[in-house]
Amino acid sequence: MSGPRLDWAAGPGRPLRGELRVPGDKSVSHRAVMLAALADGVSQVHGFLEGEDTRATAAILQRLGVRIEAPEASERIVHGVGLHGLAGADGPLDCGNAGTGMRLLAGLLAGQDFASTLVGDASLSKRPMNRVIDPLSRMGARIDAAAGGLPPLRIHAKNVLQGIDYATPVASAQVKSAVLLAGLYAEGVTRVREPHPTRDYTERMLHAFGWPVAFAPGEAALEGRHRLRATTIAVPADFSSAAFFLVAASVVPGSQLCLRRVGMNPRRTGLLQALRLMGADIREENPGEEGGEPVADLVVRAAALRGIAVPEALVPDMIDEFPALFVAAALAEGETVVTGAAELRVKESDRIAVMATALRRLGARVDESPDGAVIHGGRLHGGEVDAVGDHRIAMSLAVAAQCAGGEVLIADCANVATSFPGFEGLAAEVGLGLQRRPPAVG
Ligand code: S3P
Repeated sequence: MSGPRLDWAAGPGRPLRGELRVPGDKSVSHRAVMLAALADGVSQVHGFLEGEDTRATAAILQRLGVRIEAPEASERIVHGVGLHGLAGADGPLDCGNAGTGMRLLAGLLAGQDFASTLVGDASLSKRPMNRVIDPLSRMGARIDAAAGGLPPLRIHAKNVLQGIDYATPVASAQVKSAVLLAGLYAEGVTRVREPHPTRDYTERMLHAFGWPVAFAPGEAALEGRHRLRATTIAVPADFSSAAFFLVAASVVPGSQLCLRRVGMNPRRTGLLQALRLMGADIREENPGEEGGEPVADLVVRAAALRGIAVPEALVPDMIDEFPALFVAAALAEGETVVTGAAELRVKESDRIAVMATALRRLGARVDESPDGAVIHGGRLHGGEVDAVGDHRIAMSLAVAAQCAGGEVLIADCANVATSFPGFEGLAAEVGLGLQRRPPAVG
């Protein structure tokens, strides 16, 4: 965690009203600056997420010799150095809290002439990296990690990379992307096959930068020895950030809220489907396109939710939205059953355990299983909960507090700035009861 500790006091606000636009997509922002850095020429990125995660990636690229200007907030001008133009940096490269940053950069740096060391914060230092080390090693990369395949990652210089045909055991866009980025530097064809389709931003963006890539849901392939050409990228608003407001406006009686120009890539909108199965009233209006991605305005009205068995096929398409879904489930009528979601245990925190603990403290009954949970819907009361430095847990608990019978004190919320700078202001503007708590004395 970067800044000082931050705790929130959250409590019933008023019905959510009005409209808002959430910040740019985190996944797209990471990839935009990475590919722009490796392109020939000057690229523009509009709507770049000013989050700590994506700024850490941009700062690493700057340390590798890429000039990146920020003429105004959410704008970046990236002076690409070409595929072979990066220069090694002294000292470790700090990815902060960002699993996406570390795993994608591992692939990108595996193909360089210089060695690099990737480090992260306390949370990232506990996250599994063998899932990228294994395929990158098969391609010929030499990567050392701490015991158990944990960061820091030391990536050796001058690896000779060979394309592979890789069937990933986990459905992970980060793993797929790491292998594809290494594939830019490999001899021959690099192919990735997934057990379930994941977000395809790397593939789409490689195409936008002029690199031939063949992809379909669940599969992607490319060949080395091409070039990336500078382009302009418009980053859509992040569906994962919109998710907190979709749930909040669904559960707070009397709400009606419009979320503007939200990224609607089908590999990201599983929560929308799950909420609709639960009875949510969410309409898509003004469908359009931004930067080659589908976008729409989402108009949410409060509705009575009922529990569901979340279809396992939706899990990868809503993998970041489970903390918010747990909150919707705790306030719904009946049981919600989550299965096939063991990946939640290796996110910024163990999101099954942390959400179960927090919701129980607010009066919910939650039965954990290794790959999910059964959440028994009902009423919540006030109490003290711990977001354990996980941004999405903090924002989800702030939503839960809107329907709790009393004030909810949420500890360790500073990392909200990793993905959603300005959350507190936007939330208060549309009606959420949310304040900073003064730091404890002593
Ligand atoms: C991401 C992929 C997902 C997601 C993360 C962003 C990406 O991680 O949880 O927030 O940008 O590729 P996994 O690849 O671990 O599923």
